[in-house]
Amino acid sequence: MNYKKYLGIDIGGSGIKGAIVNAKNGELITDRFRVPTPNPSDPSSVAKEIKKIAENFKWKGSIGVGFPGVVLNGVTKTAANIAKDWLDINAEEYIEKATGCPAYVLNDADAAGFAEMKFGAGKGHKGLVMLLTIGTGVGVVMFTRGKLVANCEMGHVIMPNGQEAEKYMSDGTRKDLNLGWDEWMKRIDEYLNYVHSLFWPDLIIIGGGLSKKLDPKNLPFTVPVKVVPAELLNEAGIIGAAVAARKLKFKALEEKE
Ligand code: BGC
Repeated sequence: MNYKKYLGIDIGGSGIKGAIVNAKNGELITDRFRVPTPNPSDPSSVAKEIKKIAENFKWKGSIGVGFPGVVLNGVTKTAANIAKDWLDINAEEYIEKATGCPAYVLNDADAAGFAEMKFGAGKGHKGLVMLLTIGTGVGVVMFTRGKLVANCEMGHVIMPNGQEAEKYMSDGTRKDLNLGWDEWMKRIDEYLNYVHSLFWPDLIIIGGGLSKKLDPKNLPFTVPVKVVPAELLNEAGIIGAAVAARKLKFKALEEKE
């Protein structure tokens, strides 16, 4: 098995994207290949699309997959923006069966966090780093001393205004309510100030589609801590999933023993 190259896949609200990644330096070895997220987005329909991505790359090695919900030991436990049929599914077994490739599945924000901490805006930071991925859903990931606190799910906290954060300031909500830029930024800023008051992070990284729209020199936030846009933009999820798939190497070695 090649322990350097992995197929990284990011399951998103509107698209499933994949690329072959060099997990040592985080570089994409191929272009990204994207298929629309099927509707309904149940496990077998999504697994079929993942199979298409693997076939597109004629891929036979390990696959890392970022999933938009809580994942415990390969089992998907929540499904806010994907079909509820995913609840309590062994996603790794499912994807392995569909593709014939060993699969490692983790939360999508955790995947993006791995990538930003290893190769992007969080590189070398030892303090409390909080990364937000703002898309159809809101993913939040925290690292302290470079170690991940997995499955944070802080996109679902109830804000002091009584609203669930994700429903108040996600990109999905922006589209649904047709919010203008200033109103959307104001809502995100309100959220940042709230989570800041709870965790006092040393650095906040803004990821997801929004990261490429932000001007790093003129960020519209009042939160009293350094805020930076993610550096790996929309590719963080794919890169991080591929990096995380390296864990399969250790699983394989453990099983051999
Ligand atoms: C989910 C998280 C996920 C985020 C981004 C949220 O709705 O609960 O697990 O990381 O969306 O996809």
